[in-house]
Amino acid sequence: MAAARGEFSSRFGFIMAAAGSAVGLGNIWGFPTQAASNGGGAFLMVYLILAFCIAYPALMAELIIGRHAHANAVEALRSVSRGPISRMFGGATGITGLIVASFILSFYVIVSGWMMAFCLNSMLTLAGFSEAAAWLIEFSLPRNLFFMGIFMLLTVGIISRGVQSGIEKWSGRLMPMLIVTLVLLVLYVLTLEGAMEGLKVYLVPDFERAISPSLIVKALGSAFFSLSLGVGTMLVYGSYIRDDENLPLVGGMVTMIDIGIAVMAGFLIIPAMYVAQHNGVEIFTATGALISEDTLIFTVLPALFQTMGVAGVIVSIVFFFLMSIAALTSSISILEVPVSYTIENHNMGRQKAVWTIGGAVAVLSTVVLLNFSWMFGLVIEVSTRYFQPLLGLVMCVFAGWVWNRNSILQELKKGDAATESGWFWKIWPGYVRTVCPIIILVVFVNYIWA
Ligand code: TRP
Repeated sequence: MAAARGEFSSRFGFIMAAAGSAVGLGNIWGFPTQAASNGGGAFLMVYLILAFCIAYPALMAELIIGRHAHANAVEALRSVSRGPISRMFGGATGITGLIVASFILSFYVIVSGWMMAFCLNSMLTLAGFSEAAAWLIEFSLPRNLFFMGIFMLLTVGIISRGVQSGIEKWSGRLMPMLIVTLVLLVLYVLTLEGAMEGLKVYLVPDFERAISPSLIVKALGSAFFSLSLGVGTMLVYGSYIRDDENLPLVGGMVTMIDIGIAVMAGFLIIPAMYVAQHNGVEIFTATGALISEDTLIFTVLPALFQTMGVAGVIVSIVFFFLMSIAALTSSISILEVPVSYTIENHNMGRQKAVWTIGGAVAVLSTVVLLNFSWMFGLVIEVSTRYFQPLLGLVMCVFAGWVWNRNSILQELKKGDAATESGWFWKIWPGYVRTVCPIIILVVFVNYIWA
């Protein structure tokens, strides 16, 4: 028998946890960097369209399936299946999801470790320990391994406490802190010289770039990554939602918070780049491309902070602290995917499951770090740009074609008796059945053929 399942205790608790999962490096590191290197406003526009029109419906598919099954992703996808073949396919999708989740976690803890190292660097600088501080921002294997390990330990520590006193409690504490800090930082950066130029790049779309197939694939991957879709994170969080909760409403709120924070982070990072440039920091190569995409914020932002004197050190502490907590509420949700499966389907205690899987992913991260030059980018690209949207497509197919439509309605009615006459029920079922899968396919085919 599996242990008793956890449950979020309140609407606020769920929204904070799910928004905590959604809001992370993807919003504050991934989205702004991608927007900056893919035409600013053009990327923003395509991202917004895809996030609302494709990612939100896919999120709903995961939440509804998860809540109905009250089980981990593998079990849930099996349980909405109607025959042996779809059952097998559902199980395989769930397993693929948790493998992809583990790969995502393996690079996620590496980048999160950098965030902590940079935060600590500024603290030590402020305290006058400049030598130790320098080691922290040097790109070295020992530093990378050390901070990856620390971050993994934090993630494991929270997840081992379970749903209410682990995930819910910590997300509820960390998320409001994050939002307040982010707003303050944006307001501050916008007052600096050069910020307006960045704002223009961010807000004025170049329509020609917006129709490029590679930009669209990147924006789709970015939206799926940002909403934690495809691998089963949202499905598992959905399985911890109480039965009387109105799903389309809470799903909508999570989407709004997530997209809102990504867009807001763009208002911070892109103007900050131009402020940095204004202050003499090089951000573009001679060909006009951005320097070092993946590590952009680790070069541009510290350089910017440095130009700001003591105030800059404090802003830097705040910023990297913010990144670290945003990352933590996300990493716990990634680890929960394989953990919930192992607890429920392999009859393992939570402690043992968390430590075993956390340990295994730490080993994987070590392998990535040892082969950083070719593996790091590859793992990110394959897991987030291809697997996530394609797994999301399968989730839509399960919600739209495999699962019985009446069961979906009954599931939604638990939280809102008037579901049947509402807008969501009029649009979503047909939409997730046809429009979502077709658009995701078209985006990929278009990209491969182009
Ligand atoms: N959405 C998070 C971010 O933007 C990362 C994340 C959490 C995630 N859970 C996930 C990404 C599951 C992919 C799959 O940083």
